[in-house]
Amino acid sequence: MSSIKQDLINRIISQAGLPAKYVAASLAKSARPELGDYSLACFHLAKDRKTPPEQLAQKIAAAIKPGGLINNVTVVYGYVNIFLDNTKVIELVLKEGLQIPPAGAGQTVVIDYSSPNIAKPFGIGHLRSTVIGNALNKIYTALGYKCVGINYLGDWGTQFGMLIADYKGNPDAYKEPTTNLLAQRYVDYNTRAKADPALMAKAREEFKKLEDADPENLAIFQQFREDSIREFKRIYDVLGVSFDEYSGEADTNQYLAQTITEIEKKGITEISEGALVVKLDKHKMPPCLLRKSDGATLYAARDIAAAIHRHNTYKFNKLIYVVGADQKLHFRQVFKVLELMGYEWAKDCLHVDFGLVRFKGEKMSTRKGTAILLEEVLDEAIKRSYSIMKARSPELSDKVSTEDIYPITKAVGIGAIVFNDLKNRRIKDVDFDWDQVLTFEGETGPYLQYTHTRLSSILEKYALTNTKTPILNAKYELLSTEEEAVLVKALKDYPDIIRQSADESEPSILSNYLISLASLFNKFYQMHRVISENQELTRARIVLVQRLKEIFKNGLDLLGISPLEKM
Ligand code: ARG
Repeated sequence: MSSIKQDLINRIISQAGLPAKYVAASLAKSARPELGDYSLACFHLAKDRKTPPEQLAQKIAAAIKPGGLINNVTVVYGYVNIFLDNTKVIELVLKEGLQIPPAGAGQTVVIDYSSPNIAKPFGIGHLRSTVIGNALNKIYTALGYKCVGINYLGDWGTQFGMLIADYKGNPDAYKEPTTNLLAQRYVDYNTRAKADPALMAKAREEFKKLEDADPENLAIFQQFREDSIREFKRIYDVLGVSFDEYSGEADTNQYLAQTITEIEKKGITEISEGALVVKLDKHKMPPCLLRKSDGATLYAARDIAAAIHRHNTYKFNKLIYVVGADQKLHFRQVFKVLELMGYEWAKDCLHVDFGLVRFKGEKMSTRKGTAILLEEVLDEAIKRSYSIMKARSPELSDKVSTEDIYPITKAVGIGAIVFNDLKNRRIKDVDFDWDQVLTFEGETGPYLQYTHTRLSSILEKYALTNTKTPILNAKYELLSTEEEAVLVKALKDYPDIIRQSADESEPSILSNYLISLASLFNKFYQMHRVISENQELTRARIVLVQRLKEIFKNGLDLLGISPLEKM
């Protein structure tokens, strides 16, 4: 299904003989429906052709013949206003059903997301990267891109010296791994080591041995890593998130030295106070640190090596890093060094940044000790969604046991958290307020899930007395109310919304679209009955409901929220 816009573009190009690029750039949905559904702004072309805009608009309007989706064309100043033929649009949209043009066919996008540190808590901050990255992965995939989801673990650094030293002194403490065990042991050792230089020295020694690939230390490190991944996976399972590749900073050890030599050979490095850096003053950035004076290689060097490795492995068309806005400078530096190294694909690297999470206005920070752990938040969400659902339908508790409705309360609780994260532009800070996250009214995940169940129950009710096979030859002209026309036109926009969400790496475009579609449907549903005595009208409206359900299901899936049949 091409979008309405594409249909119009094709028609205008062929009938008015205008350049395709120009039409695509100048045709937009009209902000004022009374002036048409779409309008073509003629100012740029008029300038090029040295004609008054209005005169050009008249000429173009005269060339466009009503027909196809177009009902009527008018001119206001330099705009050609296009009115659509609602019946045609409705028939086209409802007959075709959901099809997303594969704009990304043949292209590969690598997405680096979630990427927690294995010796630090998996805090709610990492939730944002996970949720946004997962949605982008699904959105790109829906557009036909081949997506590679990479979880790039923070699994290297001197803290592993401490952990290995600690482990050797007390292996029992590591018998039952949890998501935060390593983080806790690390803090504990670090505190003790601050008071005891011998412990600090021991940690340094163990890290040195790890760097030199001592088999025992390497094995302990591998165990830490595996235990951590297993623990993270429990969280990812709850969220319904998965990755194509778990790699991390440690993996770059295999090719890091080679990358550093390569950078040095380009003649762009300098030694500054003993450290190896790439000076970036010319590009108005502080130097990019590759190696400290003590020989320890740094985060930036590893990211440069990893990017090259990814390009060799996947030949990506785009490499996306879903990482908080506090790492903006880091990625600008990394991309700049790749460019200075002569990698033409540096321009295809993109930092998709996002804002902080605040709990009722307070910034989350590990140092302040206010970090709320992701697992606790997820548990709490599930608990709260259960009590809300029980309050809404008190009969619930008698009829079903908690276990029976667990899958539903889980889907609602998680859906609420995910949606809360995706409802605003990602760069905005997320306010986390339980009462707002988990309500069935307003702009929330549960509201969208609820709308989906409503659509399902209408279809179920209809199926009770009618055939279950989809109806294709309904009398669409019966869908003649304004509410129906508006709904169907909104449906038709869906493929464009998906594309735009991908182009801007912005899942909030999709989440906002679903919210407005839900309110359009609810408005329609308040005013009209779907199932009535009028069988023909019922059939046509049932098709509309099927299409709506299709889009809600698809849209919620792409956001990483479970579409429910019942709740
Ligand atoms: N582990 C890092 C952190 O938690 C994020 C890693 C992001 N990805 C990357 N390639 N640098 O801050």
